[in-house]
Amino acid sequence: MTPTIVPTTPIEGQKPGTSGLRKKTRVFMQPHYLENYVQAIFDGIGGVEGKTLVVGGDGRYFNDRAIQVILRMAAANGAAACIVGEAGILSTPAASHLIRLRGTDGGLILSASHNPGGPDEDFGLKYNGPNGGPATEGVTDRIFERTKVIDSYRIAEAQDVDLNRIGETSLAGMRVEIVDPVSDYAALMESLFDFDAIRALFAGGFRMRFDAMHAVTGPYATEILENRLGAAKGTVVNGTPKPDFGGGHPDPNPIWAKDLMDHMYAADGPDFGAASDGDGDRNMIVGKGCYVSPSDSLAVLADLAHLAPGYKDGLAGIARSMPTSCAVDRVAAAKGISCFETPTGWKFFGNLLDAGQATICGEESAGTGSNHVREKDGLWAVLLWLNILAATDKQVAALMEDHWSRYGRNYYSRHDYEAVDSAAANGLMADLRARFATLPGQEFGPLTVATADEFAYDDPVDGSRSTGQGIRIGFTSGGRAVFRLSGTGTEGATLRVYLEQLETDPAALGRDAQEALAPVIAAADAIAGIRERTGRDGPDVIT
Ligand code: G6P
Ligand code: ZN
Repeated sequence: MTPTIVPTTPIEGQKPGTSGLRKKTRVFMQPHYLENYVQAIFDGIGGVEGKTLVVGGDGRYFNDRAIQVILRMAAANGAAACIVGEAGILSTPAASHLIRLRGTDGGLILSASHNPGGPDEDFGLKYNGPNGGPATEGVTDRIFERTKVIDSYRIAEAQDVDLNRIGETSLAGMRVEIVDPVSDYAALMESLFDFDAIRALFAGGFRMRFDAMHAVTGPYATEILENRLGAAKGTVVNGTPKPDFGGGHPDPNPIWAKDLMDHMYAADGPDFGAASDGDGDRNMIVGKGCYVSPSDSLAVLADLAHLAPGYKDGLAGIARSMPTSCAVDRVAAAKGISCFETPTGWKFFGNLLDAGQATICGEESAGTGSNHVREKDGLWAVLLWLNILAATDKQVAALMEDHWSRYGRNYYSRHDYEAVDSAAANGLMADLRARFATLPGQEFGPLTVATADEFAYDDPVDGSRSTGQGIRIGFTSGGRAVFRLSGTGTEGATLRVYLEQLETDPAALGRDAQEALAPVIAAADAIAGIRERTGRDGPDVIT
C-alpha cells in the first residue's frame, strides 16, 4: 500500500493545553485540522513506525469519524497495530490502563473531558505516553513545534473499520484490534477493592445513585456496580453514552449534577451518590445530605485507603495540585509521609507515580486517582469510597465529621469567572504579579497578607521547572486565595479563584463554606479588583 501524502500548511493555534488540544468541534472538523494535529503528534513522538497505539474516546460527536482518520493515518505512518475500544469508546482511565496492560507505545484519547459535546460544542484529542499518562510538557512542546512547520501528512486510502465488531482486522497493512472497553478495567478494579464487602453492603439494603451524565462511564458503572457488585438495577442513571451527552454539561459538580444533588438531599434519598464526567476521569461524591468537596474527598481517601486491599500496606506518599486545599497535607503529616505540591494538570503526577514517590494523587477539579493507572479515575474514587463505607459501616456524613474533628476542616471553595475578556483577565494577573513585593503587610478587612508569589514547580524526579503556575496570596490567619487562568477553556479566559481557610475550633466545623470563607472572598476581590476588571457581579460557577 502506498500512503497518500497530502500537502498541507500549518494551522495556527494548535497548542496543546492542560490536557491536549481542545477546540470547538467545528474547528476540528475543518479540512486538514485533525490531520495536521495527528501528524504533528506522530512526528512529535518520533514517528509511529512499527509502534502499537491504543485509540478511543468518550463517544462525543465526531469521536467515530476522528477515529477512522486516526487509524488511516496510523496505518500510513507505518504503525504496527492499533487497539481500539468497541464503538470507539474508552474512558480516559481505561485507556491509560490498556496502554500499560498491553505495553503499547502510548495512545490517542479523544475527549474534551467535562465540556459539552456536539457539532457546536467541544472536541479534543490528546496523546498519552507508554506509561499511560498524559504527555509531558517536553513532548507537547515538540508536538506544538511540529504544528508550526508541518507541510504534509500521510493517510491511507481505505474503507472504514467496523468499530462495532470485537476482534482483529487489518487496515492498509496495520493490525486493528477492537476490544471490549470495560472488561480489563473492571478486572483491575476487582484486584484493588474488596468486592465481597461492597457486595455485602448492597445486599444489606445500602442504596446508591450513580449519574453517568450520558457520558462514557455508563457501561463501566453498569457492569461494575450493578452486574458485579449487585447494586439494584437502576442504580446507574443516564447510563448510555450519547454524542451530545443528552444536551447536558457532563461535569460532575453540584451545579451540573444538580439532579443528583436534589436526590441526595431529598428526605428519602439514597445513602450514597456519585457522578463522573464526559471521559470518566472526574468524580463527585455526595452522601445523604452531605456533599463532599474534591479536596476533602482526597483527604479522606488518603487517610483511609489502607482499608482497601490494594492499599493495605499504606501509601508511599501523597500529591496534590497547588490550588487543591491543604486538607490532605494534614493527613500526610499525621502519617509521616511526603505530600507533594504540583502544578494543575494530572501530567505533573506522572513522574512521582512512576518513581514510586506518591501512591494517591488528587486535584480540586474533581480528580482523584492512584498509581493503578496514570490518569485520574472517577470510578476508582467511587469504589474506594464504597470500600471505605463497607469497611467502616459508617455513612458519609459521619465519616466527614470524624475527619474534621481529627484533622480540622479546610473550608474551601472555587469561584469561576467564565468567558472573561482575555485582555482583562491577563491584566488582572499582571497587576497582581507587579504587587508581590508590596502586598505583604497590607490589611483587607480582618485579614492581613502574609505572602504573595507565583507558584513554580521543580519536578523532584526529572529536575524540570514549570513556572507561572498560579498566583498565591497567603494570609496571616492561615487562609489563602489563589488566582489562576484556566488552561482548558475554549472561549476567552476563565479566571479561577481558589479560596481556603483552615478551622480547628471544634465548635466551628459545621458551617456553610461560603459563609466561613466570606473574609477571604472579600479580600480576594479587593486585592485583585475582580468585579471591576471582569465587569461581573459575581462568579458564574461556585464549587
Ligand atoms: C484537566 C486536567 C486536570 C486539571 C484540569 C484543570 O481536566 O486533566 O488534571 O486539573 O484540566 O483545568 P483548568 O481549566 O483549571 O486548567
Ligand atoms: Zn475528564
